[in-house]
Amino acid sequence: MCSQTFRRYLLWCANEHIEFRIPELMSIAQMFNIPIKWIDKPKEDPYVILEMQSEDDARKLMSRSMLVRSCYELWGQGDTEAELHSNIKSLPENLTKPHLVHEKTFMVRVESFNKTLRLSEKLKKIESLSYLPFKGSVNLKNADTCLHLIEYYGLHPNLIPEAPYRIFLGRWVVEGQRELIDKYSLKRRTYIGSTSMDAQLSFIMANYAKVQPGEVVVDPFVGTGSILVSAAHCGAYVWGWDIDYLTLHARTKPTRHSQKQRTAGESISSNLKQYGLEHRYMDVVVMDNARPFWRGIPYVDAIITDPPYGIRESTERVGTLREPKSNEEGTIQQTSAPHFPSKITYSLSDVFRDLINFAATHLVIGGRLVFWLPVIREDYHESLIPSHPCLELLFNSEQVLTVHSSRRLITLYKTRHPQKGETAIAQVTDLTAKFREKFFQASLMTKEERAFMKSRFPRDKRGQGLGYRLTEGKVKVIKMDAATM
Ligand SMILES: C[S@@+](CC[C@H](N)C(=O)[O-])C[C@H]1O[C@@H](n2cnc3c(N)ncnc32)[C@H](O)[C@@H]1O
Repeated sequence: MCSQTFRRYLLWCANEHIEFRIPELMSIAQMFNIPIKWIDKPKEDPYVILEMQSEDDARKLMSRSMLVRSCYELWGQGDTEAELHSNIKSLPENLTKPHLVHEKTFMVRVESFNKTLRLSEKLKKIESLSYLPFKGSVNLKNADTCLHLIEYYGLHPNLIPEAPYRIFLGRWVVEGQRELIDKYSLKRRTYIGSTSMDAQLSFIMANYAKVQPGEVVVDPFVGTGSILVSAAHCGAYVWGWDIDYLTLHARTKPTRHSQKQRTAGESISSNLKQYGLEHRYMDVVVMDNARPFWRGIPYVDAIITDPPYGIRESTERVGTLREPKSNEEGTIQQTSAPHFPSKITYSLSDVFRDLINFAATHLVIGGRLVFWLPVIREDYHESLIPSHPCLELLFNSEQVLTVHSSRRLITLYKTRHPQKGETAIAQVTDLTAKFREKFFQASLMTKEERAFMKSRFPRDKRGQGLGYRLTEGKVKVIKMDAATM
């Protein structure tokens, strides 16, 4: 059952963000240098079986995992009860004995996934384990040794089989970090906006980026700073920038239905203070990502960001569409009038090109860039992923948003500094750039997307406000007045 120096563990996972599970575990293992032998990585089932060298390694892995609920030392498994028991009976004594001694209290718990078992059924299953050499006394509240018999009845609530597909017996070792989802929930966050990243995904992003204590992490599209919060929780010093002064100063319209006005206490720094992380907050700057003013040296350990897709926030950069005036000799005239920068559309291609270029220049070697890439699912191809000669693709995990659209969490890591004279250019193709256009194509809109449009552009009580209209197969956002309604 176990190889020489490795022990086998069962990780019971959350039944969500399934594609993110293995990359998250791989990143944490790399972060702590934990050697792992993968035994079973089912595509859909909510568990992973792997081997690690020590319980210490298992604890380290779980100290960061958002997607694993519980970790067990695996004592047996089988497709049938008979197979499970024969498996347990063949266990080497040195695995079980130390945990079943006189001095240690114990308990056995029966759990079933996708089926509710009666108490009498559970008791029968516990009794079926009576051949194990239990010596200590039972403690149902706080036992030293907790054995879990887990029965797996598949994922479909309408197709529950009579007998389980798989049964496991494991000794509970440690829980993952799922309690952070509630602790850092946006529901209780001091300052949020319409595109704040939810706590679970923010932590997953920090894990993909291998954020560790003392590192420097930056978010170039920082918004309300939700990504900074998770990176700071992982011990990093955090900073970022955003083009929107009002967002950075918490002067935008409140997004909570119950709130009429922003309160004085709302800010990115107060978000960090809320969790006792203010000492990790460096600052935020109002800056256009298209015109960065940082010195060109590598000093960032990780870049974690959610760039604007142009759906719920505008994608703009500083610039003007007006041609610069030139005099008769053809040289551009300097004007002494004060210049107020106007904003022009920041195409998705440029957003990603600038981001990748920044990463190539400013990341330390081995540093990671983790960002979301919006895609229209039927147009998606790997060639759409922005690339750079100094950055290598590590992970590419899809989060489905609607029937037609998704976003992909892309992780690149820096292999070398750009050579002298080498121009860092990201290869962003046109299809990505057309995301917004396609997202709003009425013919592609689902019921959910229409509902989203309604919530994004609600009509106010007086019959005025922004609404949307479907015309010629396209969605048009329009100003509503009594006459248009
Ligand atoms: C998806 S939101 C990020 C939300 C953020 N993760 C949060 O938790 O609030 C994208 C952000 O990019 C900003 N942005 C758009 N264009 C920009 C530009 N040219 N330079 C810098 N930031 C920009 C927007 O103001 C917006 O806050």
